[in-house]
Amino acid sequence: MADQELSRRDFTRHALQSLTAVALLEGLASRRLFGADVQPVVDSWLNELNQISKEVADHKVKDVEFQTSLEGLYRRVNLESLLKNLDFDRIAKDVNMPDHGAKSLPVDFKSVQGLSTSAVFGRQIFAMKKGRSVVPHGHDNMATGFLVLKGNLRGRHYDRVEDHKSHYIIKPTVDRSFAPGEFSTISDHKDNVHWFTAESETAFIFNIHVNNTDPSNPKPPGRVYIDPMGEKLAGGLIKAPKITYGKVNQLYG
Ligand SMILES: [Fe+2]
Repeated sequence: MADQELSRRDFTRHALQSLTAVALLEGLASRRLFGADVQPVVDSWLNELNQISKEVADHKVKDVEFQTSLEGLYRRVNLESLLKNLDFDRIAKDVNMPDHGAKSLPVDFKSVQGLSTSAVFGRQIFAMKKGRSVVPHGHDNMATGFLVLKGNLRGRHYDRVEDHKSHYIIKPTVDRSFAPGEFSTISDHKDNVHWFTAESETAFIFNIHVNNTDPSNPKPPGRVYIDPMGEKLAGGLIKAPKITYGKVNQLYG
C-alpha cells in the first residue's frame, strides 16, 4: 500500500516535471518563431527610438538634433534582428508590387515590450519594384527617416530653401546609391525633400516619422508633392512646382 502511494506520488512528480519541460520547450520554440531570440536587442533599440521621438515631439530637442540621433540609431541597427522582428520575410513574400509608385505596408510592434500602445513615431515599410519610386515630396512639420531593408535604390534629397504658395525653391544635397542598412533623414530644416527609386528587382525601405516637430511651422504635418526637375535657377537652385499626387505619380512613380 505504502509502495503504491509512493509510486503514485513519484509518477505525479515525474509527470509534472515532464509537463514543465514540455511547456518550457514549447515556450522557447514559439519565442524563437516570433524572433524572440533577438527580442531584447530590438526591444531596446525601438524603445530608444521611441524616446528620441518623444523628445522631438515634445519640442525638447530641435528637429535637426533628432536627425542626428536617428542617424546614430540607424547606424547601429542590427538589421538581421530588425528584419526578424518585423517578420519581414512573411511581409515581403506576399506583396503585390504596384505598377507605379511604392506600396506602404503596415508595421506591427505588438511583440515589443512597452511599445505597443505608446509609440510616438509612425512607421511603415515602402515596397516597390525596379524603376519605381517613393515619389519626390517635401514635408511640413515632420521629421522622418528611411532605412533600406532590402534591395538597392537611388536616393535623392534636396533642402527646401524657400516655400512659396505654388512652388518650392530647392537645392540638391544628396544623390547616391543606397544599399541595405544605409539610411537618410528629413526635417523642416535639413534635406526636407526626398525621392527614392528602386535599382534592384524589388526594394524595401523602413520608415519612421514623427509629427509636429517644428514649433515655428504653423502648417499641419504632411507631405507636399513637387516636381524637382523644374526650372533651373542660379546657384544650383531649382524652382520646383507643387503638384498633385496623381501628377507626381504619373511623372515619377
Ligand atoms: Fe517622406
